Amino acid sequence: KVYQASTTAPVNIAVVKYWGKRDPKLNLPTNSSVSVTLSQADLRTHTTAACSSSFGSEDSLLLNSSPQDVTGARTQACFRELRSLRAQLEASDASLPKLSPLPLRIVSENNFPTAAGLASSAAGFAALVRAIANLYELSSSPTELSRIARQGSGSACRSLFGGYVAWQMGEKADGSDSVAVEVAPASHWPTMRALILVVSAEKKGVSSTSGMQITVATSELFQRRAEVVVPRHMLKMEKAIKEKDFEAFGKVTMMESNSFHATCLDTFPPIFYLNDVSRAAIRAVEDINTKAGKVIAAYTFDAGPNAVIYYEEENTEAVAGVLKSALGNLDGWQGRDIKEQASDNL
Ligand code: DP6
Repeated sequence: KVYQASTTAPVNIAVVKYWGKRDPKLNLPTNSSVSVTLSQADLRTHTTAACSSSFGSEDSLLLNSSPQDVTGARTQACFRELRSLRAQLEASDASLPKLSPLPLRIVSENNFPTAAGLASSAAGFAALVRAIANLYELSSSPTELSRIARQGSGSACRSLFGGYVAWQMGEKADGSDSVAVEVAPASHWPTMRALILVVSAEKKGVSSTSGMQITVATSELFQRRAEVVVPRHMLKMEKAIKEKDFEAFGKVTMMESNSFHATCLDTFPPIFYLNDVSRAAIRAVEDINTKAGKVIAAYTFDAGPNAVIYYEEENTEAVAGVLKSALGNLDGWQGRDIKEQASDNL
């Protein structure tokens, strides 16, 4: 008999950035972060988790049809935690089938380029963890699952919720309080839009995992960012989201992105994620805001050159329209709603 369950998890784009680990093994961050989860229809990972005694003895994972190594510490940590929750259920109810010892077969598909700075690991590990949780019929809350997904990839913990999500850095050494919580559901701010400018779909130069380690080890700017700048931005961002204050939201989003990329430049040797097209997008957004006399568009960049532009629906023409004509010779524009995340069976 084959047991199986499927789920999808969307990409999230941070507006207060996670960059730096205080514990690389458990993926415990040096600062809290906030993100906006994009709608399910756009950038997402679809994952099916199955288990059966007929699967041989090894766990396996296919991503976009190519076999992945599952022996890495991160994937193993997720498998181990989920199996142990299932084993507890099985111990308390003898009528349940014994799934926890069976080999897992995971099949994942991304509908966007992998590792191009489009947060593929976030959607990937969030979908992996929830697919296995569904397979095991765990009653864990999204916050409980976020503690497990975090060990796969830090940013993944935020993709277990739709809408506006905070990853609280936590204080405990075991990471039990380093989890994601909802700031507001997507329905709270239905006019919010995100436009993704795919500047390059190529694999990024320096992975976020290794980039942030070098930043922590070499940048002095980083320390100030983690201790002073981010805590301030966290407060302002949560307030802006609660009050649906786009000017405040947009300003913090842009200053956050700039602060993060400044610490990348302050890393030694320096890390460059932005390119000329990224900088042209920044200037185009500045022009739009200057013309409007207020902040109606906000850019943010992760560990790659692709831009995500946030704006409100009423400004679609003034933002998306103008950006497309300003940077019109580029491929890959997508204007998207931020819709409610399907609640799945959690
Ligand atoms: C710039 O979550 O990919 O996108 O925990 O090592 O897997 P690991 O790192 P990852 O880093 C994301 C960094 C970022 C900012 C963010 O998403 O908050």
